This record gives sequence, structure tokens and C-alpha cells, in this order.
Amino acid sequence: MWPLPRNDEGERLDDMTKPGTETGASPRHFIDLSEIPGEALRRIIDRSMELKQARTGRPKGAPDADAPLSGQALAMIFEKSSTRTRVSFEMAMHQLGGRTLVMQGQEMQLGRGESTADTARVMSRYVDAIMIRSKSHDMVRELAAYAEIPVINALTDRSHPCQIMADVMTFEEHKGPIAGRTVTWVGDGNNVAVSWIEAAARFGCTLRLACPEGYRPPQDVIDWANANGGTVELTEDPHAAAENSDCVIADTWVSMGDKDVEARLAALAPYQVNAELMAVAAPDAIFMHCLPAYRGKEVTAEVLDGPQSVIWDEAENRLHAQKGILLWCLGLIS
Ligand code: CP
Ligand code: NVA
Repeated sequence: MWPLPRNDEGERLDDMTKPGTETGASPRHFIDLSEIPGEALRRIIDRSMELKQARTGRPKGAPDADAPLSGQALAMIFEKSSTRTRVSFEMAMHQLGGRTLVMQGQEMQLGRGESTADTARVMSRYVDAIMIRSKSHDMVRELAAYAEIPVINALTDRSHPCQIMADVMTFEEHKGPIAGRTVTWVGDGNNVAVSWIEAAARFGCTLRLACPEGYRPPQDVIDWANANGGTVELTEDPHAAAENSDCVIADTWVSMGDKDVEARLAALAPYQVNAELMAVAAPDAIFMHCLPAYRGKEVTAEVLDGPQSVIWDEAENRLHAQKGILLWCLGLIS
């Protein structure tokens, strides 16, 4: 698994079960699904669903009835672009009664060489939690190791756990409990795929990935998932992966920061999700995509905008799932 920051005695600096900070109890970070017990993830999704239902008919700018994060603040650091993650976290905090501070990494002293550790120590004195979208998973781990407050991974080069919480919620809204069901990933074995692999273990589902050589997810993550309650299968054949599946998922072929654009487009061209591929999935299969999507590349417009697509519910559920994640990180969900 991913190397974790350790102290001189070899203990994990961000171990949630041990005091690891100057102030005592270690904060609840949300960095990778593999580190969070499945029961906690289940409670987060269940609460997110309750919060979604409780807002029926409520104006988007109005706080939730009990505003449980009143007086709390979330700092949001972006080293990469974002639409959904930024707006959903901002509105989630607003509706929960809290507030946000949004910063681009480059405009902070972090961008001029202030250390990640010092940034973590300072931010811990001002705000109640940090959300970060970073080019570097190692940097997020380091931030968490030195923060006295929860750190939330809002996408790194390795993983995108918040997205998959919304995805699992969306699957269950449309198809019922995900445990024992089959989900298919088609395309690049990227950061979103890694979090889906970890989710297969945490939620007990089967994940079939169809990825070309050179664009496969890390084998150690697959091995971990298969040893921890998931069933994760890897193939190069999209049709084999999609056969009778309950859900087909695509993501962009070129993620933020990817340089080898032409090589990617060539290698991934046979991995487009189109009507022909959806036809081999279960007749009532859904299609998901974290967005932004590129019609005519990883998915056809016919599928993305078609009746099996649940992408707008998936995008909306980012808002509700962020609430569950925030409440768990801040100790309001066990
Ligand atoms: N799916 C997702 O994370 O979207 P953004 O990049 O717009 O935040
Ligand atoms: N894999 C994509 C996800 C964007 C939300 C990327 O990292 O750019």
C-alpha cells in the first residue's frame, strides 16, 4: 500500500487510533477508503442519504434545519482545477452552518516554499478542517501527519475517495445495496479507479476493470482489495468486463497533470463506452462518470445523455456525500 509517514520509532504519524499530534487524540483524516473502516463509510453514506432527503423542497442557500457545523470553518486548498468538488464542499459547509476559505496553493506561502508541515501546524490554529486537492498524494499525507485537525483528500494523483462516496450513494439510490453487486470500470486505471478498487473491499462488491496495458491500476491496490473483502478483476477486454454488469463507469482518458496525451488517446481508443458496450451489461444497468466528460472520447453522447446515465444525480450527490464526510471527520458521525 501507499507508504505512510512514520516517526523515528516506525509508528504511523497519521494513525487514527493513536495520539499523534501535539494536542493528543489524532484527527479523523479522510485520505483513502482503505484506511477507514467499512462500518464508518456505511454510516457516512446512510447519513448523507438522510440529509439529502431532509432537504427536499428547501432552497439551496438555506442551511439544514439543525446547522450542526455552526461556528466551524473548512479551509479548501486547490493545486488543480475543480468545479464540482469546490462548489459541493462550499455549499455543504454553508448548509451545515459552517464557513469556508478557498485558496489556490500557488497564492499561499506554500507556493513559495513554506514547508507542508509548517502550513499544517499554522492552519490547525485557525480552522477546524482542511480539504486539499493536490498534485501529490505524498504532500497530502505529510499535511495530515502534521495537522491537528482533519485533512480531507479532494483528489490527488493517487486517489479520489470523496467522489466514490457519492458514486456508491448514487448506485444505491438507483439499484439498492451495492454489496454483492457488479460494477465495471472501463478505461484508464487512474485515481478514481484506485478509490473504486478500495471501495470494492469496503462495500463488498465486485469490481471488474478493463484497462489497456500501460494504463492499469497499481497491482498492490488490487491485491489489497481482494484480500480485504472485495472481488476485483482486471482484464483488457471491455466486453468481458461489462457483461451483465449492474453499472458501467468511465472517466476521462487524460487526467489533470497527464502529459502523454497522444499516447493515451491512442491506447484508450478501444475503451470507449458506447451503446454497443452498454448492450452487454445488464438491461437495467446504469452509467456513471465523475465528470468532466469528453463526449466522443471515453463515452459517446448517446450514452452520457441517454436513459441509463445517472450522471446528474451522481454530481448532485457530491454535495450530500461531502456533508457525511465532514460530519464524520468532525466527530458528529461515529
Ligand atoms: N468529479 C470532480 O471531482 O469534479 P471537479 O474536478 O469539477 O471537482
Ligand atoms: N481522473 C480525473 C478526475 C477528475 C475529477 C483527473 O484526475 O483529472
